[in-house]
Amino acid sequence: MKPLDKREVRENYDDLGGGLYDLRYKEEQSRKYDAALQLTRSRGDDLLLDDGCGTGMLLDKICSSCVGLDLSVNLLALAKERLKLNHFLVQGDSEHLPFRAEVFHGVYAVTLIQNLPDKELAVSEMKRVLRTQATLFVTALKAAFNREYLSGLLDGKGFNGFEVIGDEGTNDWIACAKV
Ligand SMILES: C[S@@+](CC[C@H](N)C(=O)[O-])C[C@H]1O[C@@H](n2cnc3c(N)ncnc32)[C@H](O)[C@@H]1O
Repeated sequence: MKPLDKREVRENYDDLGGGLYDLRYKEEQSRKYDAALQLTRSRGDDLLLDDGCGTGMLLDKICSSCVGLDLSVNLLALAKERLKLNHFLVQGDSEHLPFRAEVFHGVYAVTLIQNLPDKELAVSEMKRVLRTQATLFVTALKAAFNREYLSGLLDGKGFNGFEVIGDEGTNDWIACAKV
């Protein structure tokens, strides 16, 4: 398989700007957001990260303060239209999160990792920015990964425990990890 090239990945997602992304994926992604919000309980004063936020469809459902990070400027432009006053957007790379350690009460990474050349590094970055007792919610496309792969990605990263769920209603494996 051809190695992932971040510039190409960004250009491909940029081309989906202009609403095509939402049109194609809204329904499919919604089920994952429902699972995310059920499995992670945030408090009003929490600060959350939506890593690979795309057009901000999950941000739209989050009331706590939240930062959305993504590589694609065009998808972020759509996310901007959904912003609440306590939401912020950053163009950045999940493999090198531009944040201090232990700042977020929760990190979501929905259908992101298939795009990342160094998935191990990205998960280590997610763990680095999480505070003690925080939760990571991460999903992985079933078409690209098996359950063991997602477990292996979380294993040995210093989490206090994690669970991988094979929800039949979605096309992703869903994992929750506790710091
Ligand atoms: C399948 S989309 C999922 C978007 C969003 N999480 C959702 O639920 O709709 C994958 C997203 O990952 C972003 N992405 C790809 N590589 C990235 C990277 N290295 N750093 C940050 N975001 C990246 C893409 O721009 C795209 O928005």
